[in-house]
Amino acid sequence: PKTPPNEKVDQLQNHTTDNADQKLTTNQGLKINNNQDSLKAEERGPSLLEDFILREKITHFDHERIPERIVHARGSGAHGTFKLNKSLKEFTKAKFLSEEGKETPVFVRFSTVAGSAGSTDLARDVRGFAIKFYTEEGNYDLVGNNIPVFFIQDAMKFPDLVHAVKPEPDNAIPQAASAHDTFWDFISLMPESMHMIMWAMSDRAIPRSFRMMEGFGVHTFKFINDEGAVHFVKFHFKPKLGVHSVAWDEATKISGKDSDFHRRDLWEAIDNGAFPEWDFGVQIIPEEDEHKFDFDLLDPTKLIPEEEVPVQMVGTLTLNRNPDNFFAETEQIAFHPGHLVPGIDFTNDPLLQGRLFSYTDTQLSRLGSPNFHEIPINRSLNEVHNNQRDGHMRQQIVKGKVSYEPNSIGGGCPFQAMMKDGGFSSHNERIDGKKIRARSESFVDHYSQAKLFFNSQSAPEKQHLQNALIFELSKVTIPAIRERVVGQLAFINKDLAATVAKKVGVKVVELKQPNGSIPADADPA
Ligand code: HEM
Repeated sequence: PKTPPNEKVDQLQNHTTDNADQKLTTNQGLKINNNQDSLKAEERGPSLLEDFILREKITHFDHERIPERIVHARGSGAHGTFKLNKSLKEFTKAKFLSEEGKETPVFVRFSTVAGSAGSTDLARDVRGFAIKFYTEEGNYDLVGNNIPVFFIQDAMKFPDLVHAVKPEPDNAIPQAASAHDTFWDFISLMPESMHMIMWAMSDRAIPRSFRMMEGFGVHTFKFINDEGAVHFVKFHFKPKLGVHSVAWDEATKISGKDSDFHRRDLWEAIDNGAFPEWDFGVQIIPEEDEHKFDFDLLDPTKLIPEEEVPVQMVGTLTLNRNPDNFFAETEQIAFHPGHLVPGIDFTNDPLLQGRLFSYTDTQLSRLGSPNFHEIPINRSLNEVHNNQRDGHMRQQIVKGKVSYEPNSIGGGCPFQAMMKDGGFSSHNERIDGKKIRARSESFVDHYSQAKLFFNSQSAPEKQHLQNALIFELSKVTIPAIRERVVGQLAFINKDLAATVAKKVGVKVVELKQPNGSIPADADPA
């Protein structure tokens, strides 16, 4: 198939250089007629400090690297299109979700979570599925995963989770026995992670291809329509090629032979015109039904069963163009769950609330300047007009003498829009109560959905899940951790717990604290 036109790709063309058949120059545009020899005092003498051409070349090289992402460091991305097949106007005023047939340019980045930028694609891990929609109302980011739930219920725990899963600080060996100790130690003390653990130990955590995995927004979000009515919404992407995984022994072999397996697969599929496609769907819940479920919609360790609320398929996501430059596009893209458009809003999910702070904060150090929105891949399609100014690496040249508002001079200053002009308004949710550092009682059932997931697996899938637990726990050196994990499994499935316990040499011990993470002052044993 031919790659269709794409407004974002056209915009990027203005920043794209083709070096083919060009003469080499310095960064000042000066032609370089000897790129082999530095300037020396005599043929065998020392190099001269005045060699500005050598200095420029080496200085730039010295600064080529930027920090990798703190999580999701290894990723691959592509351009594409989101097409709306059925209007959601009844639920949301977001323009890219209102007009049937409308096409919106997107950039999608897939990633693993725990590994470094050079790690293998085939690790047992969650996969990131992040989409930037370049809409006419500004950029909208859906920063999701290929698993519909998460490990923890509150952003307060995220640095601990990540420290537990990343290589241990003393030896920095990923997947060393000690790294298994830290991850499983944390999990064994965090019962809310058990639903996600079932998914992470299942075949879902080793996809066959990025083209063959689902995408989920994970959190519950809000849709707001023209009348201000609110619906809760969960976002889904279902691959047209179906969901496929590889088995663990296949994954280890592939990792040994080609650790870029997923990256290569995505690149080659797009290059060959086999464009990956996903159906986009939504689960919609009227505001008044918020409390009709036996779990809390704000709890990111729960999904809404599709039997209870079917997924309505309303759009198609197609990836049809590889980036021209990995660093400029895939590496420098900056996603953020707080990049919203009118008609979509957050909920009070305490994990999502913490994410709203984290992404811009990390990007300030990862990309190095408050002007990272000016990097071509991050620019919105519509123009940016505001009174923010200066900062490292500022690109935009703003005319006029006034950069404050209100002002009576004019002087080139943009003014705030009127309500009738559109723009973003937060949902006027009523908030009434005390400030409190606590978890809602409605968040404490950690096992029902873990059981549902385990029971939904076919016999071979159950076997794979069990094998994964046995493999993982066999790498844990501290018996008390193995025992606590098995104790957690017993709340999900007694046979599973008994088999794993036997294989990893521990007993199934009844845990004192089935619900809630173990408080700091309790004895974890
Ligand atoms: C990346 C923080 C939970 C999906 C990141 C990054 C940070 C972060 C700092 C690196 C961003 C960058 O360098 O550009 C957090 C925090 C979380 C959290 C604090 C919980 C409190 C989640 C959840 C999901 C998720 C629940 C899925 C729904 C992603 C994805 C990326 C990412 C897909 C990679 C984006 C890309 O491809 O550039 N996260 N995260 N994160 N996060 Fe989260």
